[in-house]
Amino acid sequence: MDELKTIEWKNGKVRILDQVRLPNELVLLEISDHHGIVKAIKEMNVRGAPAIGIAAAFGVVLGIWNASDTDRALFLEKSNKAIDDLKATRPTAKDLFWALDRMRKKLSANLNRPVNEIKIELLKEAQNILENNITNCKRIGRNGAALLPANANILTHCNAGALAMGGYGSALGIVRAAVEQSKKVKVYSCETRPLLQGARITCFELMEDDINVTLICDSAAAYVMSQNLVNAVIVGADRIAANGDFANKIGTYGLAVLAKQHHIPFFVAAPLSSIDFDIKTGKEIVIEKRAPEEITKIGDMEIAPEGVPVLNPAFDVTPHQFISALITEKGVIRPPLFEGLSKQKNKS
Ligand code: MRU
Repeated sequence: MDELKTIEWKNGKVRILDQVRLPNELVLLEISDHHGIVKAIKEMNVRGAPAIGIAAAFGVVLGIWNASDTDRALFLEKSNKAIDDLKATRPTAKDLFWALDRMRKKLSANLNRPVNEIKIELLKEAQNILENNITNCKRIGRNGAALLPANANILTHCNAGALAMGGYGSALGIVRAAVEQSKKVKVYSCETRPLLQGARITCFELMEDDINVTLICDSAAAYVMSQNLVNAVIVGADRIAANGDFANKIGTYGLAVLAKQHHIPFFVAAPLSSIDFDIKTGKEIVIEKRAPEEITKIGDMEIAPEGVPVLNPAFDVTPHQFISALITEKGVIRPPLFEGLSKQKNKS
């Protein structure tokens, strides 16, 4: 996966590997204004909590890239508009809001400088967000791999891989680190209805890296666990509350309940940027509801009677009691120590 970049800045434009078309087509989208980034996030050409934060940070840069010094008020208006538009794309992933807050702070700290210098500062900040995320994923990988047995049979859901991050991956970062440590690793990837990020993206990523992966449909998870085929479940997170409750792709909560029933450790892998210390519990997490067509159609084919009412929550919230360990770049947090999260924050 090293040569496939989730997102990069190239000659005043943002390049995104189009995740909607994976695995059948490898298409790079070249985006030159912040509206293009807004569209790419909404339509999930780029997806995964940290990846949309990174895309949004570059979106802010695009929002002011052609601005000049002549009208300061217009410059400020443009930058605020870009940030507000990007914030309104998707509600659940903490990293989106975290990255935009960083960009806003960087902008405020440099407002007295010439516009050309502000542009460079904002670009550097977006690059830092991207590069730090990759470094943090590698640390998460090492911290998590240490928890796995020599023969690790891992079930994962959705895609918390290189393509959900700047690179390397959180949950799949642990898989990659375990392989690098010569552990024998086999991954079961849930297909992850409705948009099939598990089938399309996780399987693609792991096969690109020659890592042993088997695709299962979501409803096969109980069977796989009951047959002792897995000895760890590892998932990512889109937003983690201060008590450890976390939102992740719809279906995660069910996997956590199943893992508990089968005495299988259930690990959550995420950078500290995914933690929302402002909310006490998962009840406060806003869950995105997406279009009915994601469920009533597969590709262009209708699979449900016309007009059927549809409920399509993109995420669910898993209560912290189901988590065996939260694996971050700063270390592993185990229950009942979720109050340790605020201590971690103070150290960062
Ligand atoms: O809707 P998506 O694809 O943006 O969902 C986010 C996810 O990829 C998952 O929930 C993932 O496990 C956490 S983000 C690394």
